[in-house]
Amino acid sequence: MSVSLIILAAGQGSRMQSDLPKVLHPLAQVPLVVHAMRAARALEPARVVVVVGHGGAQVADVVLAEDERAQVVQQQEQLGTAHAVAQARAALADVAGDVVVLYGDTPFLSEETLQALRAARGAHDVVVLGFEAADPARYGRLITRGDSLERIVEFKDASDEERLINLCNSGVICADGAQLFALVDKVGNDNAAGEYYLTDIVALARENGLSAGVVLCPESETLGINTRAELAAAESAFQARARAAALENGVAMQAPDTVIFAQDTVIGCDSIIEPYVVFGPGVSVEGGATIRAFSHLEGAHVSRGAVVGPYARLRSGAELAEDVRVGNFVEIKNATLDEGAKVNHLSYLGDAHVGARANLGAGTITCNYDGVFKHHTSIGEGAFIGSNTMLVAPVAVGAHAMTGSGSVITNDVPDGALALGRARQDTRPGLGKRLMDKLRAAKAAKAKG
Ligand code: UD1
Ligand code: MG
Repeated sequence: MSVSLIILAAGQGSRMQSDLPKVLHPLAQVPLVVHAMRAARALEPARVVVVVGHGGAQVADVVLAEDERAQVVQQQEQLGTAHAVAQARAALADVAGDVVVLYGDTPFLSEETLQALRAARGAHDVVVLGFEAADPARYGRLITRGDSLERIVEFKDASDEERLINLCNSGVICADGAQLFALVDKVGNDNAAGEYYLTDIVALARENGLSAGVVLCPESETLGINTRAELAAAESAFQARARAAALENGVAMQAPDTVIFAQDTVIGCDSIIEPYVVFGPGVSVEGGATIRAFSHLEGAHVSRGAVVGPYARLRSGAELAEDVRVGNFVEIKNATLDEGAKVNHLSYLGDAHVGARANLGAGTITCNYDGVFKHHTSIGEGAFIGSNTMLVAPVAVGAHAMTGSGSVITNDVPDGALALGRARQDTRPGLGKRLMDKLRAAKAAKAKG
């Protein structure tokens, strides 16, 4: 039986006080809506429909970048969660099977919870994900009888007695798609908010002889983001879990509280992550690598035995083979460094390939950008690039070739050659001292007046 997803992401999120749509705010450096999409990937959904509204075009770009097969539908006016679900009907018209409704602002759902929700469909027509709230606040309350869910009452519409219930609605619902849309059609908006509540489908299901049940999950998983403070709290909860997981998996960290992980950071065991390292999206570090203090990595892969930093920056497309050394104040973008290559100090490598065991001196720069186009630099294996060499791309330095310090290399250097591209030195005996004496005398005369 296939399952499809409807992710609700049309709300403005006005409490974020932001021009950015709420679901695009980053958590662990990934937009909230992408967290929801990735969490649900475990269900192997046949279809993913994301309902957008506020900032719809912007949200659509992010959704499609994450999953080009996702379908984005627009909810022009935000008339409530049931109305939002109804917008997905056409997109799912040709698929049978279950539908899981998720929120784009709820990033922490686990795979186990989603699988449990799915499994509970064996016992009930409509399954709602609930949780025992420490502070039920304004959540919808789940009204149960035995193991049957009778209805959901929104906080605004709840009696004082119902407000005492702390079994709450996470918002996640699973039902057969055709049944879900049939129930949604029956939902009215005669309530305190004047909205079409998706939560009303539970009572409607019961009235129509269908069964409904609850699956419980820890409150931490259903955490929804509504404010900047909640986003910050979610970030610190994420980081605490990511650090604990890394330690558990055999990563060494002297000061784990200073290391920042992204949602998709992968680090192998016996690697060492020194203090104040920041991982942006798309980083994998193999076991036995060392990332030294104050380094910043994104979109990079670091192989076994490589050492990066301190104070290094790896940008997207940085590919470091085994035992590569990247030292302080070195920036690498879209460049592959083969095994054992070294670039230890004050360098920029962009759009480049560096052969095995090549050694790049301090201040080596690939001049890859002409103001309009980017160009490629290739450095052969075992090459030695003298300090302060400017490699004006497109250019290739051959295997085991050398460049003299301070060279500006504009033409290809053949294998094994030495290239010097700098002004020849001109030395005048005694002139240094004579010039200095003259300047000092001038200064003394000026001081006298
Ligand atoms: C909803 C539930 C409530 C539950 C709570 C959990 C309803 C009626 N209430 O309340 O029982 O305890 O979530 O957090 O469902 N959205 C749209 N279009 C709309 C309205 C909402 O896309 O027209 C999206 C929002 O962007 C958000 C999600 O649906 O991602 C939930 O909407 P929200 O307004 O936050 O619902 P709550 O009042 O929190
Ligand atoms: Mg909400």
